[in-house]
Amino acid sequence: MKVLVTGGTGYIGSHTCVELIEAGHEPIVLDNLCNSNPESLHRVAQITGCDTIPFIEGDVCDENVLHEVFRKHPDIKCVIHFAGLKAVGESVSMPLQYYRNNLLSTMSLCRVMQQYGVKKIIFSSSATVYSGDNEMPLRESSKTGNCTNPYGWTKYMCEQILRDIAKADPEWSVVLLRYFNPVGAHKSGLIGEHPNGIPNNLMPFISQTAIGKREKLSVFGNDYDTHDGTGVRDYIHVVDLARGHVAAANYMMDHPGESVFNLGTGTGYSVLDMVTAFEQANGVNVPYVIAPRRDGDLATCYADPAKSRQELGWEAQFNQVDMCRDAWNWQSKNPNGYDA
Ligand code: NAD
Ligand code: WQD
Repeated sequence: MKVLVTGGTGYIGSHTCVELIEAGHEPIVLDNLCNSNPESLHRVAQITGCDTIPFIEGDVCDENVLHEVFRKHPDIKCVIHFAGLKAVGESVSMPLQYYRNNLLSTMSLCRVMQQYGVKKIIFSSSATVYSGDNEMPLRESSKTGNCTNPYGWTKYMCEQILRDIAKADPEWSVVLLRYFNPVGAHKSGLIGEHPNGIPNNLMPFISQTAIGKREKLSVFGNDYDTHDGTGVRDYIHVVDLARGHVAAANYMMDHPGESVFNLGTGTGYSVLDMVTAFEQANGVNVPYVIAPRRDGDLATCYADPAKSRQELGWEAQFNQVDMCRDAWNWQSKNPNGYDA
């Protein structure tokens, strides 16, 4: 089926395009390239043996662009909405840009989808919507809210908007996917994550340190109540995450209403576990220093993925070694990302 993928040139979107094509679907990508490079789609074509991936450069907030897309592709069956700004720290300094982009894109998209009778949407949500005072593991029924930054609130608010749309019109099918910590890259090393500037997230920082672009990793805190004192997270291979979207797209076809699923592995690893695993999997050194805790960080965060397994029939297949090996394969083959 034809699937509109907003934000499809980005990190998770490009991996999802590969998995959609391999499952026999046809992605159409809409992206304004504010945090990506269209070269990713050439690489998706190379991996899958497709001639080209239909691509429209445009802003999801712009309803005129959306009308153009739905008029040109009247057979779109569902939408996967990745487009959004995602840097937590930046959202604290530029809240208005985050609320405008992430909320307006979601509302404009749903308004136009409704006009063309396309009422199936998968939304990129995040474990960040869970309240910090929950017990682990996090279940879909765990408490949400009390977000610590504007980025998290945009995800929380978009979830609520989508939930209300599904409540008002029973023809809508809304799937909210709460990602834990996506890492790694496609095994080909052709697509992956290339953050602009200094990486905020752990894995790209580890990869860039290993390749010598960064002098050393700062480990944010070693006095948490965890097995080695450093923060514990549920890292999930991006290809597993991408396959979760294919499972959700199939699920949506006969499940109207609102559904929410965790996409995580259920296993937590500490910062130092990840550093050691990366060094061992790839035979490289990752120098680090212990630094103060980062504001807003939790000691531990990991998913209970049972609902996804039972209802979506989806489960993560890749392990920590796969994540580290594939992250390094991408980093070492593309030290400057998609830039030559
Ligand atoms: P990414 O930045 O690589 O991809 C997002 C894409 O959306 C980019 O290609 C960007 O150019 C595009 N975009 C942003 N605003 C747009 C707009 N108004 N119109 C058109 N295109 C626009 O990020 P990603 O890591 O692939 O994340 C995808 C989605 O998943 C985001 O919504 C993000 O918030 C969410 N998410 C990511 C993570 C993570 O750790 N990577 C975790 C949880 C949720
Ligand atoms: C992981 C662990 C850090 C960098 C963030 C967002 C979340 C979601 C995923 C989008 C923590 C430690 C990190 C570094 C470190 N994104 N760390 N040194 O914070 O779990 O989640 O990305 O939705 O919303 O908040 O991921 O990769 O930043 O951190 O020690 O240089 O690594 O303290 O324990 P996080 P992360």
